[in-house]
Amino acid sequence: MKELIKDYCKQLRWGNGLAKNYPHIAADTHEEFLAKLLEMELKTREVHRQNRCLRQASFDVIKTFNGYSLDHIEIPASIPVDDLKTAALLERKENLIFYGPVGTGKTHMATAIGVEACKQGKRVKFYRTAALVNELNDAQIAGNLGKMLKQLSKLDLLICDEWGYIPLDRQGAQLLYQVVADCYEKRSIIITTNLEFSKWNGIFYDEKLTSAIIDRLIHHSHLLVFGGQSYRLTHSTIRK
Ligand SMILES: Nc1ncnc2c1ncn2[C@@H]1O[C@H](COP(=O)(O)OP(=O)(O)OP(=O)(O)O)[C@@H](O)[C@H]1O
Ligand SMILES: [Mg+2]
Repeated sequence: MKELIKDYCKQLRWGNGLAKNYPHIAADTHEEFLAKLLEMELKTREVHRQNRCLRQASFDVIKTFNGYSLDHIEIPASIPVDDLKTAALLERKENLIFYGPVGTGKTHMATAIGVEACKQGKRVKFYRTAALVNELNDAQIAGNLGKMLKQLSKLDLLICDEWGYIPLDRQGAQLLYQVVADCYEKRSIIITTNLEFSKWNGIFYDEKLTSAIIDRLIHHSHLLVFGGQSYRLTHSTIRK
């Protein structure tokens, strides 16, 4: 009988978890047994879905809000802290700009919001901005730019980490503008940067292009200013 159940599960593409776990289900009635069995399968699928979302998001390192202190961050009144922690701003297609010096937790928080969104089954992609631009460039050369932009257009959240850390060439700036313009009012972007707006010209070349990017990004966005000392420095093993 066990083999038969395993085989049915396989045919139904239910994985082997169900066949392995059903003997451990305690139930007094058929209904109770079936309900618990189905609940178990649903939970398994949910975990698989979350893991798939997390894999596809390609975070550098997985980080969460657990143990993350917000004391050093100036959070504007326009965004409740809960909307950050629950990634609720994604529903409103709002953007976040994290500005502050090195090591102050910008990437950590951007990742934590992304991870929370993945847990809710949202489609997220984490990029270092330079890597995104490189991929866009490569896609254009290979004649796949349309395909890449289409994939990006399926996201709920695009994270552009280290925005402005590496200057772009004209072509790169135009490609990045295209991505930002495509996201406008359709999906959320989180940007982490240590470059104030007035210095964005330096990375995007063209003043018009810079204004167009800033305009689209800031329309529905919240600016969080990260302060304090580098967490890396204050927690450095060398210091200890
Ligand atoms: N408030 C915090 N609570 C716990 N860990 C933190 C906090 N802020 C930063 N960290 C940790 O400190 C390290 C540096 O943080 P992070 O990489 O997010 O900095 P960053 O602002 O992105 O810096 P950079 O501009 O250099 O990229 C990470 O390991 C991160 O997990
Ligand atoms: Mg960072």
